[in-house]
Amino acid sequence: MISKRAKNLSPSETLKITAKAKQLAREGASVISLSAGEPDFKTPAHICNAAIDAITGGFHGYTMNTGMPELREAISEKLIRDNNITVLPDQIVVSNGAKQSIGFTILATINPGDEVLIPAPYWVSYPQMVKLADGKPVTVNTSFANNYKLTAIQLEEALTDKTKAIILCSPSNPTGACYTRSELKELAGVLKDYPDVLIISDEIYEYIVFDGEHTSILNAAPELADRTVIINGFSKGFAMTGWRLGYMAGPKPIADAVAKIQSQETSAPSTISQKAGIAAYTGTMKPIQDMVKAFKQRRDFIVKELKSIKGVECFVPSGAFYVFPDIHVFLNKTTPDGDKINSSTDLSLYLLEKHGVATVPGDAFGEPTGIRLSYAASLDDLKEASKRLKLGLDSLK
Ligand SMILES: Cc1ncc(COP(=O)(O)O)c(C=O)c1O
Repeated sequence: MISKRAKNLSPSETLKITAKAKQLAREGASVISLSAGEPDFKTPAHICNAAIDAITGGFHGYTMNTGMPELREAISEKLIRDNNITVLPDQIVVSNGAKQSIGFTILATINPGDEVLIPAPYWVSYPQMVKLADGKPVTVNTSFANNYKLTAIQLEEALTDKTKAIILCSPSNPTGACYTRSELKELAGVLKDYPDVLIISDEIYEYIVFDGEHTSILNAAPELADRTVIINGFSKGFAMTGWRLGYMAGPKPIADAVAKIQSQETSAPSTISQKAGIAAYTGTMKPIQDMVKAFKQRRDFIVKELKSIKGVECFVPSGAFYVFPDIHVFLNKTTPDGDKINSSTDLSLYLLEKHGVATVPGDAFGEPTGIRLSYAASLDDLKEASKRLKLGLDSLK
């Protein structure tokens, strides 16, 4: 009954460990979750009010397939205002979350057998989405020493005549690393010689940057505009994960193809959420600035704590709300119960089951020597979690 396509797909690893943590908590265990991929803040009031107004004002019908013109205009203006990038409203398609925008962009551009380069560690869904489109995900390992950022040399080595696209993510999930303008310029310098390669630039964490400012590949290399799709959304920057609102902005033929797929799959995103999205991009950014300030304080705290644990190596992430320490020294160690830690998955399970801290193993992101900790948790929780992590890791022999 089940298709090969569905059988070949792996379920989301991050959702799996979150489910396990929730189950343990339901059974009465004290669990601190550092596995969440969403801000622990509420959506700002002015955005909620716009949605309430949409409901009471009778905005209950379908919108245009590509999203409301007012929202696409607000996105286009935001891209100029915040990013200095010109993308016209008819080059933008709004979907039910950036996840869907990425999935539809891949479906719209990838043919069976096409290779898609994905620097590892990567966001869990990229390779699976490429597989769904019958493409071939090609992961490119990066190094801790370079904060897990792809170098021009690594890119050059990975490109083949079958490469159809590359997916970049900055600020990164899972590492929090951000590419600088000069790093992006170097990558663009390599891509210049591969004019048929599409660049999918996932910038969903753009507002959560602590050091310097967010840079898009189109800032470093505007000449790539005719083959770059920017992915963005409202989930992370505006604490709107449940509203399901994201978009792709790119060359018109790709936007048209994405719109065609969307017209047959979901019609359009929720009208209520789109009204909220307009308020997000045209309203005050103060609540967001406050949220980012809190994230920065937590980042500084958790990084300091992690660095104080013997064997843990960690760089300071410049964005998002994740930290991805190197834990390779704990692999092959043994727990006080005599269990061998063979992998980052074993380590995450041990930390969850024996010490009540939920993390996500690097295995899920294609980097077996790390684990991802989300600091979208209160400072009190982070303090307690740090104690537990230290105890748990120090107990391994
Ligand atoms: C890197 C990255 N891209 C895209 C998404 C999808 O976001 P959404 O579908 O909620 O807009 C996420 C969410 O976890 C993410 O971490």
